[in-house]
Amino acid sequence: MSATDRSEPEHDDDVPRLLFQTTYCSRAAADVDDAAVQRILAAAHERNPRLGITGLLVFGSGIFFQWLEGPRDAVAGLMDMIRGDGRHDSVVTLSETEEVRERLFPHWDMELVSADDIRDVLVDAHEGAADPRSAATLSLMLEQLERGALSPLGRG
Ligand SMILES: Cc1cc2nc3c(=O)[nH]c(=O)nc-3n(C[C@H](O)[C@H](O)[C@H](O)COP(=O)(O)O)c2cc1C
Repeated sequence: MSATDRSEPEHDDDVPRLLFQTTYCSRAAADVDDAAVQRILAAAHERNPRLGITGLLVFGSGIFFQWLEGPRDAVAGLMDMIRGDGRHDSVVTLSETEEVRERLFPHWDMELVSADDIRDVLVDAHEGAADPRSAATLSLMLEQLERGALSPLGRG
């Protein structure tokens, strides 16, 4: 094999690898407005690509919900920083897994999704999931959504 043979790149997003994911809900501080959320996203867009982290952030009715996926140490380190961020409190971890599988949101450094749109995002991701474990995870999240587990995110 020559040095220029790139048939097996070291990092190929199409190749499932050991991926850590965590989701949490938290309560936004009283002074958090759209501008504050935009600043959070700017920090995420700056840092997450360097850490190999992708995911989505939902903000509605004063509640955050975030999905983070990437290498375990990177996600855990970022989560420590996020936990200590004064712009929210009452951080409750909803899920944590580590498995060899594809990313659910490979193209999103950190995408802001409105509470009204989260169901459509999950359905789209479910339809696009090649890995049955990803599909199962998304089904679970959709079920939780239907059961109202994330109801504070919805209108009213
Ligand atoms: C709900 C919430 C989600 C956040 N998500 C991220 C994230 O995905 N990536 C990130 O780098 N920072 C995120 N942050 C911000 C970090 O907690 C941290 O304050 C910020 O990255 C500081 O970066 P800077 O000092 O370089 O601006 C989040 C903060 C909050 C409150």
